[in-house]
Amino acid sequence: MEKTLGLGFLFFSFTVLFSVFSFLLFLLRMKPWCNCHTCRTYTTMSWTTQFANLSDWYTHLLRESATGTIHIHVLGNIVTSNPGNVEHMLKTRFQNYPKGRPFSAILGDLLGRGIFNVDGSKWMFQRKMASLELGSVAVRTYALEIVTEEIRTRLLPLLMASSVACAQNHQDSVIDLQDILRRFSFDNICKFSFGLDPRCLLPSLPVSPFAVAFDTASKLSAERAMTASPIIWKIKRLLNIGSEKKLNHAINTINNLAEDLINKRREMGFSTRNDLLSRFMTSVGDDNKYLRDIVVSFLLAGRDTVAAALTGFFFLLSKYPRVEVLIREELNRVMDDPVQECANFEQLRQMHYLNAAVHESMRLFPPVQFDSKFAQEDDVLPDGTFVPKGTRVTYHPYAMGRMDRVWGSDCLEFKPERWLKDGVFVPEDPFKYPVFQAGVRICLGKELALVEMKSVVAALVRQFDIRVVGSGLEPRFVAGLTATLRGGLSVQIYERSRG
Ligand code: HEM
Repeated sequence: MEKTLGLGFLFFSFTVLFSVFSFLLFLLRMKPWCNCHTCRTYTTMSWTTQFANLSDWYTHLLRESATGTIHIHVLGNIVTSNPGNVEHMLKTRFQNYPKGRPFSAILGDLLGRGIFNVDGSKWMFQRKMASLELGSVAVRTYALEIVTEEIRTRLLPLLMASSVACAQNHQDSVIDLQDILRRFSFDNICKFSFGLDPRCLLPSLPVSPFAVAFDTASKLSAERAMTASPIIWKIKRLLNIGSEKKLNHAINTINNLAEDLINKRREMGFSTRNDLLSRFMTSVGDDNKYLRDIVVSFLLAGRDTVAAALTGFFFLLSKYPRVEVLIREELNRVMDDPVQECANFEQLRQMHYLNAAVHESMRLFPPVQFDSKFAQEDDVLPDGTFVPKGTRVTYHPYAMGRMDRVWGSDCLEFKPERWLKDGVFVPEDPFKYPVFQAGVRICLGKELALVEMKSVVAALVRQFDIRVVGSGLEPRFVAGLTATLRGGLSVQIYERSRG
């Protein structure tokens, strides 16, 4: 007994000493004593007196910087909005800018060895396998079938009921479109990844234990990144207290559900199915933990992003009726059957204006507002910024979309025409528009996400006028991995007469 206590004490003392030592190293690297104007504004949070969101303050600083790059010394973080620097990080010197250990540690418990959270050979193996799967016609057709079904049988009926409430001036005629879109995209990504229907978008808007556990786990994992030092959350995890206890509980729920699903899928047979889990089972074999990690990464990558992109789109559309009119004109031209609810692949491909509008809305409201890597060695960015080894380097799509020098003096306007040449959609340089990241690790779900977004917009804009309540208000975002509007997006839905 005494021996066990002695060993326990020794282990505890070692942990404390090690933590203090790591914390000192961390302080040395971060320069938390920096008293420059920017760092003082950050540490005292006095930016909040002028800006609604941290991203808006960063945008202001980046606009003022001659190079389009700033250094927040207290965070050890270089932030850039310079497309040349973005290309350097994501392509030219890709090997020097991995996600790095700090990021993998933060998301490691939730994502394990999933593609989103690994570098090097583990990443390359999954990237190859996943791009083969996502590029296949069978998987793409399967994805559109899922989305179309979810729009037809759940989204449209739900909004129709809301439009009836609106027409009758009913009390609950205002709905939170962000919540609806999050439910919609969770149903889709779960069906696509696991072949599972969590039924989040039923009329009763039920609470799904899987969605709740997933939300809690992503939120608490993102909050780890906001603690003053990683030592703090690591100690809490060791002692299983506070937010770390909750995170552990949420991850256990996800693990148990995933384990059940994987076993069921194996019993039912997977060789003829098109969901990602079934397809990965063929190449990964029976390593259940690895299969779980792979599909959970897809869930995280594909769920909140699509919902955030659509929320930003409808927020902007409500402010720009001119764009809505032009989208409708195109819809009527391409979908000449007035009772057709959802567009097919070929029709979506022909809608250049819709494609431009969807890209344009993500320029102003990118679902991933910023994204960081960690420099492996000392480096110099193309604009001359020195990057010491171990520094966090962030590119900032949100700020980039709002830069005169990147998009011209009308950069704050929602103007799909900037993507069109003679009525045909022309893609932009991906390093100027890194909304899906760019270069070697560009988003693997980009095409699927665009098809999903365009299908939703086509179906909804055709049938309804969606009006944001209080559209004059500045959007405020919740801190987290993807852009989420604080308080949701309150809208009223009006059915349009077609014919
Ligand atoms: C509008 C919707 C979306 C946006 C804006 C978006 C954006 C991004 C971004 C910025 C990254 C890079 C993250 C990083 O490495 O730090 C990424 C990676 C990724 N995305 Fe997306 N994404 C979207 C939808 C999707 C969907 C629907 C899927 C899956 C079906 C998906 C699958 C992935 C995967 C697997 C990666 C990791 C790629 C790699 O590391 O090689 N994404 N996405």
